[in-house]
Amino acid sequence: MSNYDHILCIGAGYVGGPTMAMIAAKCPHLKVTVVDINEARIAAWNSDDLPIYEPGLDEVVRAARGRNLFFSTDIEGGIRDADVIFVSVNTPTKTFGQGAGRAADLQYWEKTARQILAHATRDKIVVEKSTLPVRTAQAMERILNGNAKGLRFDVVSNPEFLAEGTAVKDLEDPDRILIGGHETPEGRRARRVIADIYATWVPRERLIESNLWSAELSKLTANAFLAQRISSINSISALCEVTEADVDEVAYAIGTDSRIGPRFLKASVGFGGSCFKKDILNLVYICRSYGLNEVADYWESVVAINEWQQARFVRNMLANMFNTVAGKRIALFGFAFKADTGDTRESAAIGVTRQLLAEHARVVITDPKAIENAKADLGDQAGLVEWQEDPYAAAAGAHAIAVLTEWKQYKDLDFGRIFAGMEKPAFVFDGRNILDHQRLFEMGFNVFAIGKTPLKHF
Ligand code: UDX
Ligand code: UDX
Repeated sequence: MSNYDHILCIGAGYVGGPTMAMIAAKCPHLKVTVVDINEARIAAWNSDDLPIYEPGLDEVVRAARGRNLFFSTDIEGGIRDADVIFVSVNTPTKTFGQGAGRAADLQYWEKTARQILAHATRDKIVVEKSTLPVRTAQAMERILNGNAKGLRFDVVSNPEFLAEGTAVKDLEDPDRILIGGHETPEGRRARRVIADIYATWVPRERLIESNLWSAELSKLTANAFLAQRISSINSISALCEVTEADVDEVAYAIGTDSRIGPRFLKASVGFGGSCFKKDILNLVYICRSYGLNEVADYWESVVAINEWQQARFVRNMLANMFNTVAGKRIALFGFAFKADTGDTRESAAIGVTRQLLAEHARVVITDPKAIENAKADLGDQAGLVEWQEDPYAAAAGAHAIAVLTEWKQYKDLDFGRIFAGMEKPAFVFDGRNILDHQRLFEMGFNVFAIGKTPLKHF
């Protein structure tokens, strides 16, 4: 047993909850406690109805909860008890003051650091799990180590690369675990403590150690590169639509080049999720603050293309539905920002819905997991929308269907039945390219997919 047996995580969100559940499940010798200021969220983690939907997560939580995995609102007690504290509180985009709309809002992070300092009674390792601007650790160290208690805090950066919908798989079998720390004896020791936790189940060669700043910047860079691939293929999708090229064929052709690789080349209505936009804007802000305006412009265009792609999708609907959707029933299939999650943060569906409502369309939304979150996202406008669990009910009497999330079950729907119940001409706008377009066309639908030649009967 090491002296680092008590692990605490502050922030029981999409990252903190699953990550700690996996650590506890794999490391029965460690006591893992997850705390959060949100009482309802903690109550949900302690119930049979977890606060987030993630395939396989129930089993992982059930294996460890009550044994060596605990969820609590006792942040102070948790801090006192812990040897290692992961901080996984949210770092949203700042909405006020300098850097508004771009910079990361670090107020929760700093508040958490001060909380750690206030309640700590012995030395600790503090692990940055949240995505943070490069060099945040420096500020954290100044706050934590400028204390009169004589305590020592070693800050380690251990960014999380899990993707929602595949969190359990990503945690169980990660491509790599990145651990950044200072190149000092204490920094290396702290890094090793964290590496040893993961080495319980992750092969050592996948544990990458680096300096702190490289680890912080690698997380932002990874997300920027992933998002950039989507914006790149989405930009080409527009060109495909006017040249009779097919974006899926282009993506396949370029993806077989081993230097490019096949993943993250799926054209879509636009990327969403809590990270991509926020992290790129944060990168842009950091670049500008160092006077690197060309670098900032380069990355900012990734976000601009994404917003353009979403707006283009609605423009396309309007243009093809005779320039008006006012009073027309439009069924949105899927609201989650991707399949297999109930998360809707930054989902393209939010913008699409708002734009359709602004055009006075009668919007009906269906999604197997995300309806509650979708209602919250739309706020006042949620009342203008009809909500349907059942996609058939959503499509009944509709003029158009727009697929916004690539839920597998949408592929297997009986589109003959759907077509029979729709207004004519019936339209399908496939924002995820998951349906069999030719078949739908032959049934009578007018089909518009991303990066494909439209299939229309008029
Ligand atoms: C994560 C990362 O932490 C973030 O940096 C990354 O960029 C996005 O993903 P996530 O887990 O998705 O965040 O965020 P969220 O689900 O909002 O969870 C954060 C939790 O921290 C919330 O439950 C919130 O209540 C909690 N919190 C926030 C605290 O416990 N204390 C605070 O002071 C602030
Ligand atoms: C992302 C990163 O992948 C993960 O490593 C990081 O820790 C958090 O941010 P996440 O946002 O959960 O994860 O999902 P991801 O699978 O990356 O998808 C993001 C968005 O891009 C989704 O809206 C998805 O539908 C879209 N996407 C993804 C595409 O449009 N095309 C693709 O080829 C891939």
